[in-house]
Amino acid sequence: MAEQLHLVDLETCLGDGICAEVCPENVLEMVDEKAATVESRIDSCILCGQCVAVCPTESLEMPTLPMEDFRKLAKLPFGYEEFFDFLRLRRSVRVFKDRPVERDLIEKILGAAATAPMGFPPHTTEVVVIDEREELDFLLTELVKDYESMVKGFSNPLARTMIRLSAGAEDFGVLKNHIVDVARYANEEYYRNGGDRYMYRAPVLMMFHGNRWTMSYQENAHLVCHHSMLAAVTLGLGTTIIGLIPPIVDRSKVLRKRYGIPKDNKVLTSLILGHPKYKYRQSIRRDLASVQYH
Ligand SMILES: Cc1cc2nc3c(=O)[nH]c(=O)nc-3n(C[C@H](O)[C@H](O)[C@H](O)COP(=O)(O)O)c2cc1C
Repeated sequence: MAEQLHLVDLETCLGDGICAEVCPENVLEMVDEKAATVESRIDSCILCGQCVAVCPTESLEMPTLPMEDFRKLAKLPFGYEEFFDFLRLRRSVRVFKDRPVERDLIEKILGAAATAPMGFPPHTTEVVVIDEREELDFLLTELVKDYESMVKGFSNPLARTMIRLSAGAEDFGVLKNHIVDVARYANEEYYRNGGDRYMYRAPVLMMFHGNRWTMSYQENAHLVCHHSMLAAVTLGLGTTIIGLIPPIVDRSKVLRKRYGIPKDNKVLTSLILGHPKYKYRQSIRRDLASVQYH
């Protein structure tokens, strides 16, 4: 017989219906004032585990979700003001100490990042972590090389038309208006003194990729990356999202193979990390582009 989706302790189930109310897919209902699986909805269960997490008497288990994966929640450890102060601590850090980042810190960051929401469980985001100086230096040379050919392409009318056709109007506009100048400048510095304006000589690069045939894979990766940034702040580390890296790695056969990026995966975002060389002493006010209530 197939494994049951929910195991309900009928002795302790209060029949309060909370599990059924929070279930986003209506996979639970109350039968004779006790929680029960809606058999016709079993295949719709997204295994979010909210029903188990919300039960006040711990009367519900899901054999597919081991109980050791659940942990008692702490009380909210701070209020809005403290949270806002915390968020303001995060700045994009581009100047790092010449010091590696310990692997246990990286593990902690990724552990926290995995709490990010996702379109549908389980996570679709995969992460490549590069924390070897030699490898980062190799990647830098690849970035310089690839951007060099793009910069050259833009100075040739025929090649520019080809880029426009393959990139589409939106991406072409971004390349033309922002990326080409940034890459030209970065490469000039690299040729002049070996300077790294792509990864700022950070000791760690994380690249986030996901299977392009899965739901919300792009948003998922960005959320995981963002959670990583916030987790890094709590560990005294600095980060910056680097948008210049994913497209290069994504279309390079050599780099995809080197970093084990599956054929169906797209490299979506990247993050540099390190111990910040300087401490920021002031935050800056930021406003969204617009907010409208209707
Ligand atoms: C999608 C995205 C891509 C970014 N790409 C780069 C990048 O390639 N290089 C860089 O130095 N900073 C990059 N940044 C960092 C932004 O420049 C930075 O967030 C912005 O200047 C605001 O500064 P703050 O993060 O300190 O508030 C990127 C940020 C985002 C959100």
